[in-house]
Amino acid sequence: MAASRRIVIAGGTGALGGLSADFLAKRGDVEALALSRSGNAAGDVHGVAADLLSGENLDNALAGADAVIWCAHDRAAHENDAKAMRNLLAACAKAGVQNLVYAGIVGIETSLVSPYYAGKLREEQVIEASGVPHTILRAAQFHDLVLTVLQACDDGSRYLVPHPLKLRPVAIGPVAQQLADLALQPPLGRAPDIAGPEDRELADFARIFCRVTGSAKSVFETSEIPSRWASLQTLTHGPAERAGPTFEKWLRQRQED
Ligand SMILES: NC(=O)c1ccc[n+]([C@@H]2O[C@H](COP(=O)([O-])OP(=O)(O)OC[C@H]3O[C@@H](n4cnc5c(N)ncnc54)[C@H](OP(=O)(O)O)[C@@H]3O)[C@@H](O)[C@H]2O)c1
Repeated sequence: MAASRRIVIAGGTGALGGLSADFLAKRGDVEALALSRSGNAAGDVHGVAADLLSGENLDNALAGADAVIWCAHDRAAHENDAKAMRNLLAACAKAGVQNLVYAGIVGIETSLVSPYYAGKLREEQVIEASGVPHTILRAAQFHDLVLTVLQACDDGSRYLVPHPLKLRPVAIGPVAQQLADLALQPPLGRAPDIAGPEDRELADFARIFCRVTGSAKSVFETSEIPSRWASLQTLTHGPAERAGPTFEKWLRQRQED
């Protein structure tokens, strides 16, 4: 089947972008392209080198694109992402892109003390003001983040877990699939939020983790919440489309792989 649509994934070599690239690669009617500074391929999807921050080669990379998915992130300096977004929007406008699909994060306006979440909100605002047709998909925290937080709570003999800290984590796969699906549709403005199947306290996730991994460590709750995790406290609220698997099922699958 001849490719009828060209979709560029900005950040297509990253964790989320790479999975969106995999979903698009399975379709015969799409020419997908993974954009990153390295220009590496993402599995079966060809890579193109461009720099969102300096703008280098961006117009070339987007030439002929019908849709663009934003899965980029500058881990070294996330304050760079708003500038990178402005550059991308200018290139989208030049190329006549019909749908810029943005990977956002749920509830960020409740947690602007976090420079990361404040930056994500600024990116959304820049998109909405740009006039570029777009779809913003806000996703809950990924299951992987729960593992990262739990690792930080491990004091060697026990998990000292902040409480209250309710999360609604989601597997990265369904989010990547949703981004790919949205890129094939007309722009929605704001898509329904996507989250995992269950709302639970972090302490519950810690107990699930111990059960599934066979850890003998005990779980203690503490009201002293390190500032780096306090920004997660208010994010779990409001309506969202729920996508499986649960944290437990995801973890068991991960153990088997
Ligand atoms: N983690 C969560 O819980 C969560 C939830 C919802 C949404 N998100 C969002 O999902 C997005 C992707 O996250 P991720 O964890 O998949 O990120 P990641 O693995 O760090 O990947 C980042 C990607 O961006 C590219 N990149 C960075 N700077 C660039 C630049 N200046 N020019 C071109 N490409 C650049 C990287 O490639 P090079 O380094 O080769 O350039 C890489 O492909 C982020 O916007 C994040 O906010 C995350």
